[in-house]
Amino acid sequence: MIDKATIDRIQDTAQIVEVVSDFVRLRKRGVNFLGLCPFHDDRTPSFSVSPAKNICKCFSCGEGGTPVHFIMKHEQLTYYEALKFLAKKYNIEVHEREQTDEEKILESERESMFILNEYARTYFKDLLHNNPEGKSIGLTYFKERGFRDDIIQKFELGYALENRSALSSQAIQLGYKKDFLIKTGLVAGGENNSPLYDRFRGRVIFPVHTLSGKVVAFGGRILRKADNLAKYVNSPESEIYSKSRELYGIYFAKRAIVKEDRCFMVEGYTDVLSMHQAGIENVVSSSGTALTTGQIRLIRRFTENMTVLYDGDAAGISAALRGIDLLLEEGLNVKVVLLPKGEDPDSFARKQNAEGFNQFIAENEVDFIRFKTQLLLEETKDDPVKRAGLISNIVQSIALIPDGIKRSVYVKDSATLLEINEKLLIQEVNKIRMRNYDQRQRPLRARPSSPSQKDSQQQDKSAGKTNTETKVVPTRLKSQIDMYERAIIRYIVRYGMTPIFQRFETKKEIKNKETIETKILVEEGSTVIEFIHFDLERDNIKITNPLYQQIFEEAFKGSEDKDFQPSKYFISHSDSEISKLATEMVSDRYQLSKIHAKSLGEEFNDEKSRLLEENLLEDFIPRVTTELKNYYVIQQIASVMKKIKEAQAKDDFETTLKLLEEKKKLEEIKKVLAKMLGEQVIIRY
Ligand code: CTP
Ligand code: MN
Repeated sequence: MIDKATIDRIQDTAQIVEVVSDFVRLRKRGVNFLGLCPFHDDRTPSFSVSPAKNICKCFSCGEGGTPVHFIMKHEQLTYYEALKFLAKKYNIEVHEREQTDEEKILESERESMFILNEYARTYFKDLLHNNPEGKSIGLTYFKERGFRDDIIQKFELGYALENRSALSSQAIQLGYKKDFLIKTGLVAGGENNSPLYDRFRGRVIFPVHTLSGKVVAFGGRILRKADNLAKYVNSPESEIYSKSRELYGIYFAKRAIVKEDRCFMVEGYTDVLSMHQAGIENVVSSSGTALTTGQIRLIRRFTENMTVLYDGDAAGISAALRGIDLLLEEGLNVKVVLLPKGEDPDSFARKQNAEGFNQFIAENEVDFIRFKTQLLLEETKDDPVKRAGLISNIVQSIALIPDGIKRSVYVKDSATLLEINEKLLIQEVNKIRMRNYDQRQRPLRARPSSPSQKDSQQQDKSAGKTNTETKVVPTRLKSQIDMYERAIIRYIVRYGMTPIFQRFETKKEIKNKETIETKILVEEGSTVIEFIHFDLERDNIKITNPLYQQIFEEAFKGSEDKDFQPSKYFISHSDSEISKLATEMVSDRYQLSKIHAKSLGEEFNDEKSRLLEENLLEDFIPRVTTELKNYYVIQQIASVMKKIKEAQAKDDFETTLKLLEEKKKLEEIKKVLAKMLGEQVIIRY
């Protein structure tokens, strides 16, 4: 329905860096840009954006493509919708013919719901500004609260009339389907031909925008105190609205969050508005409920620094303590600011300009763990029993922090505050980490210790369909695992302390009219040893070969010393088997397959390939750990299939069902892994 010329124009105009930047914080890295992948739970930036090729790609999960592909995937749009999305972004006029009635019906349900919400937003907005009731009641209310026109406009605030069916009757008249009025939650009733009535009546309206600015829900506030009515009525969950994935204000905040490299978290709609009005735009609201993992990940794409603002009263403090553990667990750096007693961000922002507010924050913001420690310390003064509880409480929080270095900083700090031995605290933290680890339902962990060769071959056949595309069918199964483990140990011995996944920023300075570019390290990355250790540990993968296992463990211990030299250490190891193996590994030839070497079009010598390998560690290492995981999952599926057969033979229906469920889950994991593997460089170990 869009003509070819327009499609071409959209594709030529859309710049991948600009398009992706609307959703992902990107850092320049060489000629490309790098960020956290929005399509999987990414902890080390693996999403690469190439302005030259105008494409993006995650080297971990494999998602990516052109600007249109990116938008399709990210916004869950069809090809056609994604083109329109980009046309709007770049102000490209789209020549489109009017849709026929048939096409209107065919339009997807979600699309219809968005269209209806768009209509409702305009409808509410129009009432606020142009309808006598809307003006005298709604607009007056906002004005009396001190909201400026530009803020009212920006957030597209509106008003819903008192009349029970003002919206529904107009919408029906305009041809909007009753079905969608109900599905979006704008309207209720309608069962057994009962009359429809509007959800929002006599309330001011706050539309909830997604990251890309689409309206997925509304919040409506009553205007005067009424005991029998809730202060806010909100849209129900629907096919387009999942409360746990949205954050109020994110659309208007994302740029500022990136710019300031931090995000303020407040509780309510009006807090967001008032802070914008005061000039602070990097702010989102959790809408009065506890944060969810989905919401936190949304923020983490833009920044790792979160400052939570709360009332200084008891309720505010307990709210501050609630839910923050989840932020820590997701790896954010969390700070807390308690506002003066009785003030919420809304009321406080009204009394300040941005400068005053920022100054207050700077002077009063406390690191969360410190805040919690001090607060609890105060409460448990002179009570040894309570004190023990306090220590365990703090330790629980610290144990959630994924980054080991940050964790140890907190341990030190808290040990001082609590006046206890640091070693003891480390022990406690580690205990809890172990326990948490056990409890986490990692899908990969329950794998059979030694599956038989037969099982796995059986699996090969049945998995052939999905596997042919990705070329991951293992053939020599017994030696396979040894091969992967050996490759992993080889990387550890050769490159153990080499940092990977570092991030740099280029700083430009003009000196004597010459531009000097310096690269500044902005993120440490992790060493090869750390990465492998983390990657295997999180899926509870153990190295099975005892010799390799010993190297693995000694390397991990050794890596605590930053001057540790793994190759030297293992070559001169007292265990002659280890030193022999290490020597082999250090002196062996390159690992690239002929295919890969050929594609580089150069003759290979050892020095060149070593350099190349060193530069490609970030691709190679995740690949081999993924291969290993994939191998285990395949084995697990085989063993489950065997059990299914046995259960079926015994007519054990319930067990069969359970096992089928298990198999399904494993196959999901396998799909993800296969995808990761299918997209990566081909290596021969
Ligand atoms: N909230 C809700 N339903 C309620 C009360 C609150 O959904 N019955 C949510 C709203 O998102 C609200 C947030 O919780 O913005 C915080 O609640 P509250 O502090 O009571 O409201 P404010 O946003 O401060 O609103 P106002 O300043 O207008 O009182
Ligand atoms: Mn308030």
